[in-house]
Amino acid sequence: MKPSLGHKKQTKLIEQFVREKMSDIPDPHGIKHVEDVVGIAQKIGTKLKISDKDKIQLEAAAWLHDIGRKKEFSIPGAKSNHAKFSAEEGKLFLSTISFPSEEADKIVEAVLEHSNREPSTTLIGKILQDADKLSRLTGRGGLIAAIQFTVAREPNELLDNLSEERLPDWRTEEFEKLLSILNFNLEWFEMLSFNESKEMCRQGYMDLKAYCDQIQDLLNKRN
Ligand SMILES: [Fe+2]
Ligand SMILES: [Fe+2]
Repeated sequence: MKPSLGHKKQTKLIEQFVREKMSDIPDPHGIKHVEDVVGIAQKIGTKLKISDKDKIQLEAAAWLHDIGRKKEFSIPGAKSNHAKFSAEEGKLFLSTISFPSEEADKIVEAVLEHSNREPSTTLIGKILQDADKLSRLTGRGGLIAAIQFTVAREPNELLDNLSEERLPDWRTEEFEKLLSILNFNLEWFEMLSFNESKEMCRQGYMDLKAYCDQIQDLLNKRN
């Protein structure tokens, strides 16, 4: 049996593995989404005062939860299988860095259940599900989701233009369309497992709305 590398080192190796694996996957399923989920999951975990052991497993699960996207995209007809692929690839990688098997099993279970409609069976699984939803309801991910449903342009192109100097590239009508769809997604909100996540969702939505209002003000001034 190989000696244990220590959790800090193992977490770093998991992060490196995920960054390399997902470097060429575009928004909204790429590494920026994963970074968001890791950060949000850590915040929920802190609010819930979870144990240090759970924190380590949660961070690992959040990094690994979407690594199967690449395989999903490369196999025609494999849509909706990314959680299964992520769990399989995650399990394999955790074994290569000698992650204790009992803990690895919990991580893999959370990854496998993360996109289920019903709540995960474990604490870290539920937190991961909430973080994944919050990443689509708030912040940059929330804006990307709204853009995709509205102006039918590449989210990156639009987001890269989010500065006062670049505003001339924008059309006011497009942005108004975007704002109209930036509604609070009540269905997803109701699916959040923890009150702490719901509070973060409310706040994040208000911040996003305020940000969009600012952009709209700039557009109105220009026109
Ligand atoms: Fe996912
Ligand atoms: Fe995700």
